[in-house]
Amino acid sequence: MLCGIFLTVFVNFLLPEVETATNFPNDFLFGVATASYQIEGGWNESGKGENIWDRMVHLFPERIVDHSTGDIACNSYKYYLEDVTYLTYLGVHYYRFSISWSRLLPTGFKTYINPDGKRYYQELITNLARMGIKPMVTLYHWDLPQPLQDIGGWTNPVMARYFAEYADVVFDLWGQYVPFWITFNEPGEVCETGYGIGINAPNVNLSGIADYMCGKTLLLAHARTYHLFNIKYRPKCPAKVGITISSPWYEPKAAGEAEASERALRMEFGWWANPIFSKTGDYPKILKDRVDKFSVYENLTESRLPKFTKVKDRVDKFSVYENLTESRLPKFTKEEIKYIRGTADFLGLNHYTTYIVSSQELPNNSMQYRQKDLGVLKEQDSKWEPSSASWLRVVPWGFRKLLSWIKQEYNNPVIYITENGFADKGELNDVKRIEYHSSYLKSMLEAMEQDKVNVKGYTIWSLMDNMEWTDGYTIKFGLYWVDFLNPLRRRVAKSSVEYYKALIANKTIPE
Ligand code: NOJ
Repeated sequence: MLCGIFLTVFVNFLLPEVETATNFPNDFLFGVATASYQIEGGWNESGKGENIWDRMVHLFPERIVDHSTGDIACNSYKYYLEDVTYLTYLGVHYYRFSISWSRLLPTGFKTYINPDGKRYYQELITNLARMGIKPMVTLYHWDLPQPLQDIGGWTNPVMARYFAEYADVVFDLWGQYVPFWITFNEPGEVCETGYGIGINAPNVNLSGIADYMCGKTLLLAHARTYHLFNIKYRPKCPAKVGITISSPWYEPKAAGEAEASERALRMEFGWWANPIFSKTGDYPKILKDRVDKFSVYENLTESRLPKFTKVKDRVDKFSVYENLTESRLPKFTKEEIKYIRGTADFLGLNHYTTYIVSSQELPNNSMQYRQKDLGVLKEQDSKWEPSSASWLRVVPWGFRKLLSWIKQEYNNPVIYITENGFADKGELNDVKRIEYHSSYLKSMLEAMEQDKVNVKGYTIWSLMDNMEWTDGYTIKFGLYWVDFLNPLRRRVAKSSVEYYKALIANKTIPE
């Protein structure tokens, strides 16, 4: 024993200075993530209601690359206990999953709680607890109950209330068991791809209009839920409540393009982060200025009525544009700014890749309003290592730059990396995934050690291969491979499982 100590001291003395850059702090947490629509299946089983993804994949199969659906997906609705055994094997400290709103509240409204939906999440949470795995629960990961879309979805301000009521049901049931709550996953994708460019459900194609309406409602829904938790649950539930925002790093194409990079970060990440995490609250100034500059209403004058009749006055009075004359961006009142500011205990960050940006102003008559507001061209360097996702190239240094930018911009918030992952075609010996994570984790550690960024946890997307939204099952992010051709949906460990398991056990990036 004594000899062992002596030997260690002696050997350490002989070795060059110990490299600490691959070690994580003792209290650093590791997890893996999934989302309800992407893994659960059981789309209409035991009382679950229809959501906007169910509707889209069934009515418009061509919108999914391989015409697939999430009807069965990984069938975690049935095999969740098996998932828990893999989580246990990995040794993760927490499991980030989302609740399917329409499984719990089939119509979206709190008036009826589906007993089987309640049982399902109760079982999952209980079994995680038995294995010592903390649940990190996302309340909204894109699967809005269809009836709520029928009343306008996130463009309807009343949704802030319905979301908070749904959250109330969830907090009431599981508030005591869940240490981390995430209100929304990626508001930018919810609003831009769902209501702006219409690629994702509910396929609303009103760029620069409906996306901003969605944004305002969503931020108010988030804040309302945070306040609800604070007032009603905080004393008995010592949980942290945050929101997950995604962002690439935007590298300026040339020295003169620093402004384009700053603009992209502010107009995309800042759209969500500013109202919540900045000292002043509200949208970033540049977002307000640029949207005002390109008002869609500028040519629509004051009224919907081609004027020459006597009813003119009446119609002017009720003009649909009366509150919209100045901007497409629904502004916050002073009270709303105060209400939203500071409503997060942590910032969840999803990060995958980097873009090179330069200024690109669109012509005045362009109808791509959001793109016009942004005024930025995004490219990727073909020399960067590609993945099987068209948008994802491996650029680890961008991770550190983004983290440092967030620290500076938002006064050093507590950050959990709630997603980071690599897409391939489902290789079992997934060496590229392992390399990706090693390089990104090193970059993150540099940000923590050298730039003093306050990162507390790291989450791999994803526990297993799953339904990658409009890419269906054509690209895979999982640590476990899933046999989608077999009804048993067998899961098989890829090489990255042993890699991540060792990393978690030693809190060190394996060589
Ligand atoms: C972001 C989303 O949150 C998740 O649902 C998606 O599968 C991954 N990124 C990969 O694209």
